[in-house]
Amino acid sequence: MLSYRHGFHAGNHADVLKHFVLIELLNYLGQKDTAYTYVDTHSGAGLYSLDTGYAMKNAEYETGIGPLWERDDVPAALQEYLNLVKGMNPSGKMRYYPGSPYCANEVMRSQDRLRLFELHPSEIKILSENFRKLEAHKAEQGERQTVRGKRIMINAGDGFEGLKAILPPPSRRGLVLIDPPYEVKDDYRRVKVCLEDALVRFPTGTYAVWYPVLSRIESKQLPERLKRIPANGWLNVTLSISGPTPDGFGLHSSGMFIINPPWTLEATLREVMPYLVRVLGKDVSAKFEIESGETETVRMKGPVRAPVRPLADRSNRADQRPGRPAVEGSARPQVGSLRTKAGVAPSRNTGAGANRDVGPGKRVARPANLSKARSR
Ligand SMILES: C[S@@+](CC[C@H](N)C(=O)[O-])C[C@H]1O[C@@H](n2cnc3c(N)ncnc32)[C@H](O)[C@@H]1O
Repeated sequence: MLSYRHGFHAGNHADVLKHFVLIELLNYLGQKDTAYTYVDTHSGAGLYSLDTGYAMKNAEYETGIGPLWERDDVPAALQEYLNLVKGMNPSGKMRYYPGSPYCANEVMRSQDRLRLFELHPSEIKILSENFRKLEAHKAEQGERQTVRGKRIMINAGDGFEGLKAILPPPSRRGLVLIDPPYEVKDDYRRVKVCLEDALVRFPTGTYAVWYPVLSRIESKQLPERLKRIPANGWLNVTLSISGPTPDGFGLHSSGMFIINPPWTLEATLREVMPYLVRVLGKDVSAKFEIESGETETVRMKGPVRAPVRPLADRSNRADQRPGRPAVEGSARPQVGSLRTKAGVAPSRNTGAGANRDVGPGKRVARPANLSKARSR
């Protein structure tokens, strides 16, 4: 069953979170000259029109890229994402929105490799055609492939399965984005199984999983299960633009779970997430959460239940690296909401800032009507 079309959701708040984090992860990999590989297990169509077709139906971009478009106070770390989207719209009018393959392609260098998977027969055609046009355009501009081998490979097939054949990447440096539709609940299980397998093949890779934050049990369990997969560490960030709607329709909250995250990411998220809550938040339930931890790096055959140590207990890796700002330790995730002062990330330890436990900024509305809840 393949009915999901990302075009309906292009540029929404979940895309903003996902693509901003994706760019951060790729930029980190790009700091070293050595080539790296980016794998997109669920690529979608690559580029979406916002003023025609699917995106017009619910205009979900108005919950995401829309409110950011004209802002002149965007934090530096978010500005690159915004510049990238604006670069796709040279007329200045918001007409096109780049999907993850396009975002990646813009950030990646000539020596890096993109490996894109897409299962939907229509989406794969559009994705291939989009990249064909892009390459033709670049060739017209005089840009030539400077490396041997194919820089971009587009595979029509199952990304969960396809990943197995290409890990580890030749340079042993890489990022895998796993972004399924979660239309079927088996996607939650497959994400975990896929990661367990991938981490055995390529333990030092970085893995980013997008997931919807819903009241359904599989959604709640997913990040908890991912925290227990043996790796060097994890980071979980969620963005909620509002509380659930009374009818249970619509996606108001999503997360990015990163395994083996770069050490710089947490500080960047602390800078940007309060801003996103302020600009995209619709009501007092708007908030972000950031939590991170470490699991043991263990190579075993069976699943390992390694203890998750809270941030406060970790040997402070930040302090061992020059230039990293000191990070406040806490066993609790960092939470911010619209109830905080604009632009200020709440302290996790102060009564006023740590508002996770008080007021409507924290309270979870009654469970959404599960039968009506859409995955995205
Ligand atoms: C959420 S969309 C991807 C969006 C894209 N990553 C982005 O950020 O622009 C999920 C895509 O996965 C595709 N898909 C579903 N199951 C798949 C599978 N097993 N393997 C590869 N693609 C799949 C769907 O057709 C859909 O286009």
